[in-house]
Amino acid sequence: MRMGHFVNFKEELKRRTEEAEHVIREYLPEESGFAKTMAEAMNYSMTAGGKRLRPILIRETYELFGGKDKLCEPFMAAMEMIHTHSLIHDDLPALDNDDYRRGRLTTHKVYGEAMGVLSGVALLNRAYEVMLSAFDLTGDKDRVIAAMRIIADKTGINGMLGGQSVDVENDGKPLEHEMLDYIYKNKTSALIEASMMIGAVLAGADDECVQAVEEIAAKVGMAFQIQDDILDVISTTEVLGKPVHSDEKNEKMTYVVWKGLDVAKQEVEHLSRKAI
Ligand code: IPE
Ligand code: IPE
Ligand code: MG
Ligand code: MG
Ligand code: MG
Repeated sequence: MRMGHFVNFKEELKRRTEEAEHVIREYLPEESGFAKTMAEAMNYSMTAGGKRLRPILIRETYELFGGKDKLCEPFMAAMEMIHTHSLIHDDLPALDNDDYRRGRLTTHKVYGEAMGVLSGVALLNRAYEVMLSAFDLTGDKDRVIAAMRIIADKTGINGMLGGQSVDVENDGKPLEHEMLDYIYKNKTSALIEASMMIGAVLAGADDECVQAVEEIAAKVGMAFQIQDDILDVISTTEVLGKPVHSDEKNEKMTYVVWKGLDVAKQEVEHLSRKAI
Protein backbone atom coordinates (compact mmCIF):
# COMPACT_ATOMS: atom_id res chain seq x y z
CA MET A 1 0.00 0.00 0.00
CA ARG A 2 2.70 2.44 1.00
CA MET A 3 4.61 1.71 -2.18
CA GLY A 4 1.49 2.37 -4.25
CA HIS A 5 1.09 5.68 -2.49
CA PHE A 6 4.68 6.62 -3.24
CA VAL A 7 4.37 5.85 -6.98
CA ASN A 8 1.29 7.99 -7.06
CA PHE A 9 3.16 10.84 -5.35
CA LYS A 10 5.85 10.76 -8.00
CA GLU A 11 3.29 10.88 -10.78
CA GLU A 12 1.44 13.74 -9.13
CA LEU A 13 4.67 15.65 -8.64
CA LYS A 14 5.55 15.15 -12.30
CA ARG A 15 2.14 16.38 -13.42
CA ARG A 16 2.34 19.44 -11.20
CA THR A 17 5.90 20.21 -12.28
CA GLU A 18 4.79 20.15 -15.93
CA GLU A 19 1.86 22.36 -15.12
CA ALA A 20 4.11 24.87 -13.34
CA GLU A 21 6.46 24.74 -16.32
CA HIS A 22 3.60 25.66 -18.62
CA VAL A 23 2.55 28.63 -16.45
CA ILE A 24 6.13 29.93 -16.19
CA ARG A 25 6.60 29.90 -19.96
CA GLU A 26 3.54 32.08 -20.50
CA TYR A 27 5.24 34.99 -18.76
CA LEU A 28 8.73 34.93 -20.25
CA PRO A 29 9.97 37.95 -22.25
CA GLU A 30 10.00 37.93 -26.04
CA GLU A 31 13.39 37.56 -27.63
CA SER A 32 13.26 40.53 -29.97
CA GLY A 33 14.41 44.15 -30.30
CA PHE A 34 17.73 45.68 -29.31
CA ALA A 35 17.68 44.02 -25.88
CA LYS A 36 17.29 40.58 -27.48
CA THR A 37 20.51 39.22 -25.97
CA MET A 38 19.37 40.00 -22.45
CA ALA A 39 15.97 38.40 -23.10
CA GLU A 40 17.78 35.30 -24.38
CA ALA A 41 19.95 35.21 -21.27
CA MET A 42 16.84 35.54 -19.05
CA ASN A 43 15.08 32.72 -20.87
CA TYR A 44 18.21 30.55 -21.00
CA SER A 45 18.13 30.05 -17.25
CA MET A 46 14.35 30.15 -16.87
CA THR A 47 13.85 27.32 -19.36
CA ALA A 48 16.70 25.14 -18.08
CA GLY A 49 14.37 23.13 -15.88
CA GLY A 50 14.75 23.06 -12.14
CA LYS A 51 12.41 21.42 -9.69
CA ARG A 52 9.89 24.30 -9.77
CA LEU A 53 9.34 23.70 -6.08
CA ARG A 54 8.31 27.26 -5.20
CA PRO A 55 5.59 27.68 -7.88
CA ILE A 56 4.25 24.23 -7.01
CA LEU A 57 4.06 25.25 -3.33
CA ILE A 58 2.17 28.41 -4.30
CA ARG A 59 -0.49 26.47 -6.22
CA GLU A 60 -0.73 23.72 -3.57
CA THR A 61 -1.24 26.21 -0.75
CA TYR A 62 -3.66 28.25 -2.86
CA GLU A 63 -5.82 25.19 -3.46
CA LEU A 64 -5.46 24.02 0.14
CA PHE A 65 -7.19 27.24 1.21
CA GLY A 66 -9.92 26.92 -1.43
CA GLY A 67 -8.40 28.89 -4.34
CA LYS A 68 -9.78 27.65 -7.65
CA ASP A 69 -8.99 30.14 -10.41
CA LYS A 70 -5.81 31.39 -12.09
CA LEU A 71 -5.03 34.23 -9.70
CA CYS A 72 -2.01 32.38 -8.30
CA GLU A 73 -0.44 31.89 -11.76
CA PRO A 74 1.34 35.23 -12.26
CA PHE A 75 2.75 34.75 -8.75
CA MET A 76 4.01 31.28 -9.63
CA ALA A 77 5.92 32.69 -12.60
CA ALA A 78 7.13 35.72 -10.64
CA MET A 79 8.45 33.62 -7.77
CA GLU A 80 10.36 31.38 -10.13
CA MET A 81 11.86 34.50 -11.75
CA ILE A 82 13.01 35.85 -8.39
CA HIS A 83 14.43 32.45 -7.46
CA THR A 84 16.20 32.10 -10.82
CA HIS A 85 17.61 35.61 -10.44
CA SER A 86 19.05 34.48 -7.10
CA LEU A 87 20.66 31.46 -8.76
CA ILE A 88 22.17 33.40 -11.68
CA HIS A 89 23.72 35.84 -9.22
CA ASP A 90 24.69 33.12 -6.74
CA ASP A 91 26.80 31.50 -9.48
CA LEU A 92 28.62 34.71 -10.53
CA PRO A 93 32.42 34.83 -10.06
CA ALA A 94 31.93 37.43 -7.30
CA LEU A 95 29.74 35.01 -5.32
CA ASP A 96 30.03 31.20 -5.54
CA ASN A 97 31.80 31.21 -8.92
CA ASP A 98 30.15 28.08 -10.30
CA ASP A 99 30.09 26.91 -13.91
CA TYR A 100 27.03 24.63 -14.02
CA ARG A 101 23.41 25.10 -13.08
CA ARG A 102 20.36 23.04 -13.91
CA GLY A 103 22.47 20.79 -16.10
CA ARG A 104 23.81 23.61 -18.27
CA LEU A 105 26.73 26.02 -18.24
CA THR A 106 25.82 28.96 -16.00
CA THR A 107 24.42 32.15 -17.54
CA HIS A 108 27.62 34.15 -17.01
CA LYS A 109 29.64 31.36 -18.67
CA VAL A 110 27.50 31.50 -21.80
CA TYR A 111 26.57 35.19 -22.01
CA GLY A 112 29.42 36.80 -20.02
CA GLU A 113 29.44 38.45 -16.64
CA ALA A 114 27.72 41.69 -17.67
CA MET A 115 24.74 39.80 -19.08
CA GLY A 116 24.75 37.57 -15.99
CA VAL A 117 24.36 40.63 -13.77
CA LEU A 118 21.84 42.36 -16.06
CA SER A 119 19.65 39.37 -16.90
CA GLY A 120 19.47 38.48 -13.19
CA VAL A 121 18.28 41.95 -12.23
CA ALA A 122 15.93 42.03 -15.23
CA LEU A 123 14.29 38.82 -13.99
CA LEU A 124 13.87 40.35 -10.56
CA ASN A 125 12.19 43.37 -12.15
CA ARG A 126 10.07 41.27 -14.49
CA ALA A 127 8.71 39.44 -11.48
CA TYR A 128 7.11 42.72 -10.37
CA GLU A 129 5.80 43.46 -13.88
CA VAL A 130 4.18 40.01 -13.86
CA MET A 131 2.76 40.33 -10.35
CA LEU A 132 1.20 43.69 -11.23
CA SER A 133 -0.65 41.95 -14.06
CA ALA A 134 -2.55 39.99 -11.37
CA PHE A 135 -4.63 43.11 -10.73
CA ASP A 136 -6.38 42.38 -14.04
CA LEU A 137 -7.46 38.92 -12.80
CA THR A 138 -9.40 39.86 -9.68
CA GLY A 139 -11.76 42.38 -8.09
CA ASP A 140 -10.09 41.61 -4.78
CA LYS A 141 -7.13 43.99 -5.15
CA ASP A 142 -6.24 43.77 -1.45
CA ARG A 143 -5.17 40.15 -1.80
CA VAL A 144 -2.78 41.02 -4.62
CA ILE A 145 -1.32 43.90 -2.62
CA ALA A 146 -0.88 41.67 0.45
CA ALA A 147 0.85 38.97 -1.62
CA MET A 148 3.19 41.49 -3.25
CA ARG A 149 4.09 42.92 0.13
CA ILE A 150 5.07 39.47 1.38
CA ILE A 151 7.22 38.76 -1.67
CA ALA A 152 8.95 42.14 -1.56
CA ASP A 153 9.70 41.69 2.13
CA LYS A 154 10.97 38.10 1.88
CA THR A 155 13.17 38.88 -1.14
CA GLY A 156 14.98 41.99 0.09
CA ILE A 157 17.29 42.92 2.93
CA ASN A 158 14.98 41.22 5.43
CA GLY A 159 14.91 38.05 3.37
CA MET A 160 16.79 36.24 0.61
CA LEU A 161 19.16 39.06 -0.32
CA GLY A 162 20.00 39.74 3.32
CA GLY A 163 20.87 36.05 3.70
CA GLN A 164 22.96 35.96 0.55
CA SER A 165 24.94 39.01 1.64
CA VAL A 166 25.82 37.57 5.05
CA ASP A 167 26.57 34.19 3.42
CA VAL A 168 29.05 35.59 0.91
CA GLU A 169 30.59 38.03 3.36
CA ASN A 170 31.56 35.15 5.62
CA ASP A 171 33.22 32.74 3.22
CA GLY A 172 36.25 31.26 4.96
CA LYS A 173 35.15 32.35 8.40
CA PRO A 174 33.87 30.31 11.33
CA LEU A 175 30.31 31.27 12.26
CA GLU A 176 28.27 31.48 15.40
CA HIS A 177 25.18 29.25 15.41
CA GLU A 178 22.96 32.34 15.42
CA MET A 179 24.49 33.72 12.25
CA LEU A 180 24.34 30.38 10.47
CA ASP A 181 20.63 30.22 11.33
CA TYR A 182 20.17 33.75 10.03
CA ILE A 183 21.81 32.80 6.72
CA TYR A 184 19.69 29.68 6.19
CA LYS A 185 16.49 31.35 7.33
CA ASN A 186 16.99 34.16 4.88
CA LYS A 187 18.93 32.98 1.84
CA THR A 188 16.71 29.92 1.35
CA SER A 189 13.79 29.72 3.73
CA ALA A 190 12.47 33.22 3.02
CA LEU A 191 11.36 32.45 -0.57
CA ILE A 192 9.84 29.13 0.49
CA GLU A 193 7.96 30.90 3.28
CA ALA A 194 6.81 33.59 0.84
CA SER A 195 5.61 30.96 -1.64
CA MET A 196 3.37 29.17 0.83
CA MET A 197 2.20 32.39 2.49
CA ILE A 198 1.08 34.02 -0.75
CA GLY A 199 -0.78 30.87 -1.79
CA ALA A 200 -2.74 31.22 1.44
CA VAL A 201 -3.17 35.00 1.20
CA LEU A 202 -4.40 34.91 -2.41
CA ALA A 203 -7.01 32.32 -1.44
CA GLY A 204 -8.24 34.56 1.39
CA ALA A 205 -6.79 32.76 4.42
CA ASP A 206 -6.93 34.73 7.68
CA ASP A 207 -3.87 36.08 9.51
CA GLU A 208 -3.70 33.20 11.95
CA CYS A 209 -3.59 30.65 9.14
CA VAL A 210 -0.99 32.64 7.22
CA GLN A 211 1.18 32.75 10.33
CA ALA A 212 0.85 28.99 10.79
CA VAL A 213 1.81 28.50 7.15
CA GLU A 214 4.85 30.73 7.65
CA GLU A 215 6.01 28.61 10.60
CA ILE A 216 5.56 25.37 8.66
CA ALA A 217 7.36 26.76 5.61
CA ALA A 218 10.25 27.99 7.79
CA LYS A 219 10.91 24.38 8.82
CA VAL A 220 10.62 23.18 5.23
CA GLY A 221 13.04 25.91 4.12
CA MET A 222 15.60 25.12 6.80
CA ALA A 223 15.43 21.39 6.03
CA PHE A 224 15.75 22.20 2.33
CA GLN A 225 19.00 24.15 2.73
CA ILE A 226 20.56 21.58 5.07
CA GLN A 227 19.70 18.89 2.51
CA ASP A 228 21.22 21.07 -0.23
CA ASP A 229 24.43 21.24 1.83
CA ILE A 230 24.37 17.46 2.35
CA LEU A 231 23.96 16.89 -1.39
CA ASP A 232 26.86 19.25 -2.07
CA VAL A 233 29.00 16.69 -0.20
CA ILE A 234 27.50 13.31 -1.14
CA SER A 235 25.80 13.68 -4.54
CA THR A 236 27.18 14.10 -8.06
CA THR A 237 27.19 16.89 -10.62
CA GLU A 238 25.29 14.62 -13.03
CA VAL A 239 22.44 14.13 -10.59
CA LEU A 240 22.29 17.71 -9.27
CA GLY A 241 23.00 19.52 -12.53
CA LYS A 242 25.33 21.83 -10.57
CA PRO A 243 28.84 21.36 -9.21
CA VAL A 244 29.30 19.39 -6.00
CA HIS A 245 31.87 20.51 -3.39
CA SER A 246 31.06 24.14 -4.16
CA ASP A 247 30.79 24.87 -0.42
CA GLU A 248 34.20 23.35 0.29
CA LYS A 249 35.72 25.35 -2.58
CA ASN A 250 34.35 28.56 -1.10
CA GLU A 251 35.28 27.54 2.45
CA LYS A 252 31.68 27.94 3.48
CA MET A 253 30.56 27.22 6.99
CA THR A 254 27.54 24.93 6.60
CA TYR A 255 25.45 22.81 8.89
CA VAL A 256 27.33 19.77 7.55
CA VAL A 257 30.71 21.28 8.40
CA TRP A 258 29.44 22.34 11.81
CA LYS A 259 27.65 19.18 12.92
CA GLY A 260 28.78 16.45 10.54
CA LEU A 261 26.77 14.53 7.95
CA ASP A 262 24.87 12.26 10.30
CA VAL A 263 23.56 14.99 12.57
CA ALA A 264 22.71 17.10 9.52
CA LYS A 265 20.65 14.23 8.09
CA GLN A 266 18.87 13.78 11.41
CA GLU A 267 18.07 17.48 11.49
CA VAL A 268 16.51 17.34 8.01
CA GLU A 269 14.37 14.42 9.18
CA HIS A 270 13.42 16.18 12.40
CA LEU A 271 12.49 19.49 10.73
CA SER A 272 10.49 17.68 8.04
CA ARG A 273 8.49 15.80 10.65
CA LYS A 274 7.83 18.98 12.59
CA ALA A 275 6.63 20.67 9.43
CA ILE A 276 4.22 17.83 8.69
C1 IPE B 1 18.79 25.91 -5.23
O1 IPE B 1 17.40 25.84 -5.21
C2 IPE B 1 19.25 26.97 -4.30
C3 IPE B 1 18.89 26.71 -2.92
C4 IPE B 1 18.10 27.49 -2.26
C5 IPE B 1 19.45 25.58 -2.22
P1 IPE B 1 16.66 24.61 -5.90
O2 IPE B 1 17.27 23.33 -5.39
O3 IPE B 1 15.20 24.76 -5.71
O4 IPE B 1 17.06 24.79 -7.43
P2 IPE B 1 16.25 24.46 -8.76
O5 IPE B 1 15.23 25.53 -8.92
O6 IPE B 1 15.63 23.10 -8.60
O7 IPE B 1 17.29 24.52 -9.84
C1 IPE C 1 21.72 29.27 -2.36
O1 IPE C 1 22.62 28.68 -1.55
C2 IPE C 1 20.77 30.27 -1.91
C3 IPE C 1 20.38 31.15 -3.01
C4 IPE C 1 20.75 31.02 -4.25
C5 IPE C 1 19.54 32.26 -2.68
P1 IPE C 1 23.71 27.80 -2.31
O2 IPE C 1 24.82 28.64 -2.82
O3 IPE C 1 24.03 26.65 -1.45
O4 IPE C 1 22.86 27.25 -3.57
P2 IPE C 1 23.43 26.30 -4.70
O5 IPE C 1 23.93 25.06 -3.99
O6 IPE C 1 24.49 27.04 -5.42
O7 IPE C 1 22.21 25.99 -5.54
MG1 MG D 1 25.61 30.50 -2.42
MG1 MG E 1 25.83 28.39 -4.75
MG1 MG F 1 24.35 24.65 -2.12
